[in-house]
Amino acid sequence: MKTYNVPEISEGIYWVGIRDWNRRIFDALIPLPQGTTYNAYLVRGKEKTALIDTVNPGFERELEEKIAQVIGEAPLDYIVMNHAEPDHAGAIPVMMELHKGARLITTEKGAKMAQIYYKAPAEETRIVKDGDSIELGGKTLKFIEAPFLHWPETWSMRAPLSSAHRPYWAECIRSPRTP
Ligand SMILES: [Fe+2]
Repeated sequence: MKTYNVPEISEGIYWVGIRDWNRRIFDALIPLPQGTTYNAYLVRGKEKTALIDTVNPGFERELEEKIAQVIGEAPLDYIVMNHAEPDHAGAIPVMMELHKGARLITTEKGAKMAQIYYKAPAEETRIVKDGDSIELGGKTLKFIEAPFLHWPETWSMRAPLSSAHRPYWAECIRSPRTP
C-alpha cells in the first residue's frame, strides 16, 4: 500500500483530506484554477476515534488508506457529517460500509439529508443538537448548529486544537492548497 503524507496538525488530529489537482469548477460557478482540497480530519482520543467529514466521491480509496495509515486495525467509532454536500459527505456510503460499527453523527436536518443523498441508515445515525458533545477520551467534540451559514443543515464543531491552529472548523473553508 502506498504511504501518504498525513500531517498531524495538532496532537491526535490528522488531516486525511484529498488534493484534487484536476477539478476546475465548483458548483458550476466557482473557478478552481489550482484545483482544490477536500478537507477531512481524523481525531483520536484515548478511547474513540472520529472522522470529521469525508471527501468527494471517487477518492474513497485514498481516504481509507490514509485513515488506515493512522489507526491501523483500530475501529473508527464516529463519522461526523458537518454538511451534506458531496465534497464533504460524498464518501459516507463507502466509509459506513467499510466501518460497520461506526455511527454517523449529524443534526436532525443532516440525518434527513444523509438518508436521502447517501442512504445512511437511521439505526446507524446518531443525532446531535446544538451544544451537545461527544467524548473521545481526553478530547471532546462540541457541536454548534449554524443553519444557513451555507446550507440549511450546516453546522460546525469545536475540537481541542492547540492554540497555534484554528479553534474550530467551519463548513466550506476551501483552499487550493492543503490545510
Ligand atoms: Fe458546501
